[in-house]
Amino acid sequence: MTNPISDRALPEPGAELRRVHIKSFGCQMNAHDAERMADLLAKHGYAATGQVEEADVVILNTCHIRERASEKVYSELGRLRERKEERLASGKTTRIVVAGCVAQAEGTEITRREKAVDVVVGPQSYHNLPALLKAAETGTAMDTDFPELDKFAALPAPDQRRLLARGPSAFLTVQEGCNKFCSFCVVPFTRGAEFSRPVSAILDEARGLVEAGIRDIMLLGQNVNAYHGARADGGVADLAALFAALAKIVGLERLRYATSHPRDMNKALIEAHKTNPKLMPYLHLPVQSGSDRVLKAMNRRHSTDEYRRIIDAMREARPDIALSSDFIIGFPGETEADFAATMALVREIGFAAAYSFTYSPRPGTKAAEGTDDVPQGVKTERLHALQALILEQQTAFNRASLGKTLPVLFEKLGRYDGQVAGKSPYLQAVHVDMPQGRIAKDYIGAIMDVRITKLASNSLHGEIISADHSASEGGYAA
Ligand code: SAH
Ligand code: SF4
Ligand code: F3S
Repeated sequence: MTNPISDRALPEPGAELRRVHIKSFGCQMNAHDAERMADLLAKHGYAATGQVEEADVVILNTCHIRERASEKVYSELGRLRERKEERLASGKTTRIVVAGCVAQAEGTEITRREKAVDVVVGPQSYHNLPALLKAAETGTAMDTDFPELDKFAALPAPDQRRLLARGPSAFLTVQEGCNKFCSFCVVPFTRGAEFSRPVSAILDEARGLVEAGIRDIMLLGQNVNAYHGARADGGVADLAALFAALAKIVGLERLRYATSHPRDMNKALIEAHKTNPKLMPYLHLPVQSGSDRVLKAMNRRHSTDEYRRIIDAMREARPDIALSSDFIIGFPGETEADFAATMALVREIGFAAAYSFTYSPRPGTKAAEGTDDVPQGVKTERLHALQALILEQQTAFNRASLGKTLPVLFEKLGRYDGQVAGKSPYLQAVHVDMPQGRIAKDYIGAIMDVRITKLASNSLHGEIISADHSASEGGYAA
């Protein structure tokens, strides 16, 4: 039998192709990490497969943010153990890897609870995966260090062919970690201290993405607007300055960013929404609660009024901006009045989208030291009320697009034959029917003006009224 695991750069001629299956949970950064792991392992002779049954290596890229996300890992591992045993009965070895934030937070616990796990690797160490797989030949391998070095410097550049297969939009991590310690949140523990990548490394990566055909880049960070990366001249660039540098890349048409914290929303970034035509009119700015008392207990270190002032300034800079937020419902001590204040804030601001969750106590966090005193039934009831309001606002936002002409970046085939799907500047999904005789290849990666003619539950429909153009050349028709 050939050795199934090796860190050789490429498979030997005639060697059996090995396969890796990656299942990712959690945020966009985790999704991006999964792509980078797949690219890294491709360089080491592993083809990605969607079929877990045929995988020689299975990676669970886990999320620790809420209890339900975290517990999912153990049920997944139980199923994988059975699969591993079945494959072994037919002479095939399987390596099980737990990566991501649960790996970071509960590494030892994972190997104790599930013996079938071969490798545990944290979010800052996955560039070591090939070596860890090699080490796993002789026993469980674990790496949950927070290395001094930027893992991205050690990773291969994103693979051009694989990139484009994913479409014309890509993620680029510019900042990782968090020093804010909101009282409910595990991220400072799982992702470590705030770290910003240097400007030159980001520009190099962005140029590589654009050369591969990427036209839309979403900058990622746990606190992306806290970005303060080293510039080549010895200075420091904030996020607005980074956007200004990125906007100079010819062929790069759209810039986005997530997730921001209200405390780090500086004037320059707000101004960039007015002056940088490539910066898309979309802001995801979590507020979590509309009650000052709750915000204080959450250690968010801003008031609802400060949040309102940021939104006012943002709307002055970019009146059409689409706003989005995160909410935690049923935080310890949340009263009916606190919840009513959240609903009032949402009504006042008007969001185009939002994510909302019921509070989940997390080990090691300050809030988990107190009692989780809002009954589950009350939490769920409040959550449903909030979600109904958000849905109303989202529908109103989409309805306001009817009859307008929006530049749409086409990303993939639509759900139905003859349809292509893309994104408006406001991150709305837009579907169009291709005219007779045209093929998807004519559209994917193109930005075209689309007149919005119809509203579906989660998307807009429209018709193309222009050839490819770039956001930087034209303005948006209102
Ligand atoms: N850095 C971002 C959020 C990262 S976590 C920020 O500062 O806003 C993503 C979202 O998960 C959070 O915005 C919050 O709404 C939610 N979340 C985090 N911890 C949670 C917990 N313990 N229970 C429920 N939701 C939580
Ligand atoms: Fe978590 Fe708060 Fe940091 Fe966001 S800012 S990652 S919510 S601790
Ligand atoms: Fe989850 Fe880690 Fe992201 S806890 S939300 S995968 S940073």
